[in-house]
Amino acid sequence: MSAPDNLRIVLASRPTGRPGPENFRIEHAALPSVSDGQVLLRILYLSLDPYMRGRMSAVKSYAAPVEIGQVMEGGTVAEVLESRLADFKPGDIVLSHSGWQSHAVADGSRLRKLDPAAAPVTTALGVLGMPGFTAYSGLLTIGQPKPGETVVVAAASGPVGSAVGQIARLKGARAVGIAGGAEKCAFVRETFGFDAVVDHRSPDLAAELAAACPDGIDVYFENVGGKVWDAVFPLLNGFARIPVCGLVAQYNSSGEFEGPDRLPVVMRQILTKSLTLRGFIQTEFAAQRPAFQAEMARWIAEGVLKYKEDIVEGLEQAPQAFIGLLEGRNFGKLIVKA
Ligand SMILES: NC(=O)c1ccc[n+]([C@@H]2O[C@H](COP(=O)([O-])OP(=O)(O)OC[C@H]3O[C@@H](n4cnc5c(N)ncnc54)[C@H](OP(=O)(O)O)[C@@H]3O)[C@@H](O)[C@H]2O)c1
Repeated sequence: MSAPDNLRIVLASRPTGRPGPENFRIEHAALPSVSDGQVLLRILYLSLDPYMRGRMSAVKSYAAPVEIGQVMEGGTVAEVLESRLADFKPGDIVLSHSGWQSHAVADGSRLRKLDPAAAPVTTALGVLGMPGFTAYSGLLTIGQPKPGETVVVAAASGPVGSAVGQIARLKGARAVGIAGGAEKCAFVRETFGFDAVVDHRSPDLAAELAAACPDGIDVYFENVGGKVWDAVFPLLNGFARIPVCGLVAQYNSSGEFEGPDRLPVVMRQILTKSLTLRGFIQTEFAAQRPAFQAEMARWIAEGVLKYKEDIVEGLEQAPQAFIGLLEGRNFGKLIVKA
């Protein structure tokens, strides 16, 4: 039997607009060798997240792009195969940031041991990981939902949106979700327990959202932008808070936007309604991580917070699955089983 090699998915070219399979290349390389202070990892699960579209682009952003020919970046759950690092031994399961590949070496700086008995290890990439933390920190720090208020969030069947709505309800607020298609909308309402759900593909989105929010909107957790923002904006109440978390509807855009310049109208409403719009990247709230881990794990154990994962088999499927994520073809936290 031949020795295993390292299957790597690298960025082949930068997309213009929607990424395609031609922007990725699958390569086979020798297994990396381990030095002192490192571990050799076999990737078990790879997280696919909307931010990766930004890493494919050379446009200046909050993080450096992936270079052409480099392995695509990403959070991973991995098994330690070989260790030359104190505190880690073969067989340990860890959270790492090893990217789209089957094997990797890592030093200890971005490794966290996982306890498979405490929670399914995939949750470290979703509800108990970066997306769950994004929902928790962005909603509670910026959104600050109060009992009786209305909280609206889109991409409501995904890991961020589903947690936002459920945490809002745990804080006594009314949660209104926006999702794409009847199946996702039913799940958001029935399993995640949102008070109301609106389908953003409906031609009457604005009217349906207004009907679902009879008392207006106090917190809009912005995940998508685009026409969802247009429907939300007139419904914002005085002193509404808007954590600007993501703009997935725009990620495949080349920079040209349709329609007239709406900035003067938006600025007038920010002024006259005393709105708070605040962008954030979850890493800025890192100090809240221990509180998040404890509280989220308790909510899951008590069964008051649910999550959904969408697991795709085979690392080779990662490009297609990622392209689908930006178009809503995932249903829950998108993870690749390597
Ligand atoms: N600021 C931060 O630190 C941070 C961290 C993590 C994530 N984020 C952001 O949070 C948002 C949600 O992330 P996630 O991981 O939970 O993603 P997700 O919900 O698993 O996937 C993205 C979803 O966006 C929806 N979508 C795509 N295009 C849309 C459009 N044109 N209009 C309306 N909805 C659209 C789709 O759901 P439907 O089928 O329901 O439309 C799709 O499933 C993203 O914007 C992401 O970039 C930000």
